[in-house]
Amino acid sequence: MISYKTARPFLTMFSPETAHRLAIIGLKLGLAGRNRTPDDPILATRVVGLDFPNPVGVAAGFDKGAEVPDAMLALGFGFTEAGTVTPKPQPGNPKPRLFRLEEDEGVINRLGFNSGGLEPYLARVKARKARGAKKGIFGANVGKNRDTQDGAADYAIGIAAVANYADYLVCNISSPNTPGLRSLQGREQLKDLLTRVLAARAKAIAPHGTEGGAKVPPLFAKVGPDLDLLAIEDIAQVALETKVDGLIIGNTTIDRPTGLKSPEAPEAGGLSGKPLTEKARWCIGEMYKAVGGLIPIVGCGGIMNGTDAYRAIRAGASLVQLYSALVFHGPELVVAIKRDLAAHLRADGFKHVADAVGADHKKQ
Ligand SMILES: Cc1cc2nc3c(=O)[nH]c(=O)nc-3n(C[C@H](O)[C@H](O)[C@H](O)COP(=O)(O)O)c2cc1C
Repeated sequence: MISYKTARPFLTMFSPETAHRLAIIGLKLGLAGRNRTPDDPILATRVVGLDFPNPVGVAAGFDKGAEVPDAMLALGFGFTEAGTVTPKPQPGNPKPRLFRLEEDEGVINRLGFNSGGLEPYLARVKARKARGAKKGIFGANVGKNRDTQDGAADYAIGIAAVANYADYLVCNISSPNTPGLRSLQGREQLKDLLTRVLAARAKAIAPHGTEGGAKVPPLFAKVGPDLDLLAIEDIAQVALETKVDGLIIGNTTIDRPTGLKSPEAPEAGGLSGKPLTEKARWCIGEMYKAVGGLIPIVGCGGIMNGTDAYRAIRAGASLVQLYSALVFHGPELVVAIKRDLAAHLRADGFKHVADAVGADHKKQ
């Protein structure tokens, strides 16, 4: 097993995209090892009908092609999300398109849904299911091809294809790197998209006999964080009307907060990591209030340590996810995040993670 501390100086010799590829290969080869310590029971939580051993997951984009879900779960994550996968293969934007903001602990990407397409993705997730990989919760995140005009149709294709092979499903409608994609977050477009996608899910599951007990994987819409209060209110209304199971908040931001120090800060694309922490938390809190706590939220954006995870949960997240923190601290970070999160929960007198969800908005 190789620690990230040892591997990082080697990985940073390469371009960020090559370093990422090498990390995936290392994970495939089992070089990252496993964490066998059982999770602290205070971290166990049931959300959207699924039992999570802990609330800390891997965000989409790290494992776009579903190549290493079990390696990530073995490191101690409570769940992992693979994608975004588009129906047809597409190359994404020209390189370079991924930048490490070392001084800011941030990342800028304008990958633009580089994807091998559904075919190889499905082959991997089907093989995983056939192997009986039961350990851990696996989410499938789908998107649209750049040139597709009827975006909702692509999401319906993706969801129908993966519905029987994932524990939960995600429509990513918040990437800033596919032109027009984020307009799908608008009230009418979102309603149309979710209605069609929920129908596609029902149809895909039905042949296996939902009434006979086949599980319907919960569906999340991944939105934000570049939303104002009106947009948040619209999304909340549509989420409640369509009965989507949950929301992931959020994606990268097109904002560039003042004070960024890295020379790469002016690069175009979506910014993630530490500079996103507060904005993402604000969005989580406002969405939690807008849905009245009735729709579970996965908090994502700038979660760099256990305190960030705890604060996102207090703001309204039932689960959290991270990506950029992996770039700076390696996957071992999950162990420290879980330890510190459990310590925060105990220090504030919570018996379970679920008790802390939205605590900032409740009278103590
Ligand atoms: C290099 C990179 C690629 C990403 N690709 C995707 C993607 O394909 N689908 C998606 O839903 N989110 C994608 N994201 C967004 C992350 O899932 C996450 O929402 C965002 O980075 C904020 O979390 P973080 O600050 O912990 O990185 C990507 C992020 C990065 C940095």
